[in-house]
Amino acid sequence: MRTKVAIIGGGPAGLMLGHLLTREGIDNVIVERQSGDYVLGRIRAGVLEQGTVDLLEESGAGSRMREEGLPHEGFELSFDGDPLRIDLKALTGRSVMVYGQTEVTRDLMRLREQSGAPTLYGAKDVSLDGLHDQPAVHFTQDGERRTLHCDYIAGCDGFHGACRKSIPADKLSLFERIYPFGWLGVLVDKPPAAHELVYAHHQRGFALCSMRSATRSRYYIQCSMDERVEDWSDDRFYDELSLRVNPAVAGALQRGPSIEKSIAPLRSFVAEPLRFGAMFLAGDAAHIVPPTGAKGLNLAIHDVRVLFEALADRYRSDSEAGLDDYSPRVLDRIWKTERFSWSMTTLLHTFPEHDPFTRRMQRAEFDALLGSATMRRVMAENYTGLI
Ligand code: FAD
Ligand code: PHB
Repeated sequence: MRTKVAIIGGGPAGLMLGHLLTREGIDNVIVERQSGDYVLGRIRAGVLEQGTVDLLEESGAGSRMREEGLPHEGFELSFDGDPLRIDLKALTGRSVMVYGQTEVTRDLMRLREQSGAPTLYGAKDVSLDGLHDQPAVHFTQDGERRTLHCDYIAGCDGFHGACRKSIPADKLSLFERIYPFGWLGVLVDKPPAAHELVYAHHQRGFALCSMRSATRSRYYIQCSMDERVEDWSDDRFYDELSLRVNPAVAGALQRGPSIEKSIAPLRSFVAEPLRFGAMFLAGDAAHIVPPTGAKGLNLAIHDVRVLFEALADRYRSDSEAGLDDYSPRVLDRIWKTERFSWSMTTLLHTFPEHDPFTRRMQRAEFDALLGSATMRRVMAENYTGLI
């Protein structure tokens, strides 16, 4: 088997890159470890930046999002019950779109199926070689070992994937912070407790009220990584959430049986550089942000937009200039986004190691936001997406 670009991983980054390449007439094959249904079963991101929305629209993948997505012009911060609205539209002229990662994935999968471009699901034990001369991807499918030869490899296989791990340790610098807590998330078919997202700091821990539609809500509470999902009945979860958000939101909270409940760890992570020979890392394979800034999916889509432009340039003009520039160009935005996600996480969570002084610093930062449109504008610019 031979193709121009072998894409490892069929999550949003791999699917989006495949979609853009196929539209440009550049042959590509997606190699995905799981089944399509498994990929669609993972409940993750919910908020799309303007730039992500624009790319989906421009590339012909935005029609259902336009119909079903919920444009949001602001969100609410709540600090020990005191509310502050961040008016994204007034502060930046931009807004965000609430449309689940699952739906983006479903739309891209459907387009790929229609295009006839191949996705090899259930591809186990991926290994790579020839990254400096004759790139090849080896994998096992239906019990048979197969090889895909290619010009380039896009490592879109997430944090635990095979691509980053196949780079020799002395060729890669890794930067990481693991936070001493996770998020316990619940998905429920009940209308959201508030029209906009609510990010709440409380002495008992962070909480987030989000949504997927007018009838489906997504809620999170900060929890210790020692917690077990089985110990959290739905009622225990809603009781705890109600204590952490302001009374108006708690009063409007509609309880219902959870349709998904899981604990996610929080991590900041960056690998440098993002090119190794003919392989390029993109999305969660290259970096992780804690979800507090709603950035992970958006950053992944930005990476593949830049990678696509560089590959298109390479095949149009035989110039590798764009590919040479890929790693420094995306890392610049990645680090700025890491900073924002870290600062939102630091402001809104309770940390076991925080002393009374540090807790007062968190409150002082919230009060500074209350008092300064300039500070709110910086937050809004980052939340809607750096240009
Ligand atoms: P992934 O989605 O991880 O996809 C990688 C794919 O590669 C997977 O399908 C996997 O099966 C496959 N794979 C892995 N290993 C191999 C292998 N060895 N061989 C072949 N295939 C392999 N982001 C936002 O922007 N906004 C949000 O609101 C938001 N909220 C979040 C909430 C939670 C609870 C979590 C956990 C994340 C959230 N994120 C959010 C982050 C976002 O979900 C990720 O950044 C996004 O999924 C990254 O996409 P990706 O395609 O790079 O990686
Ligand atoms: C979500 O709806 O899953 C969501 C929204 C905003 C975040 C993180 C997750 O910051």
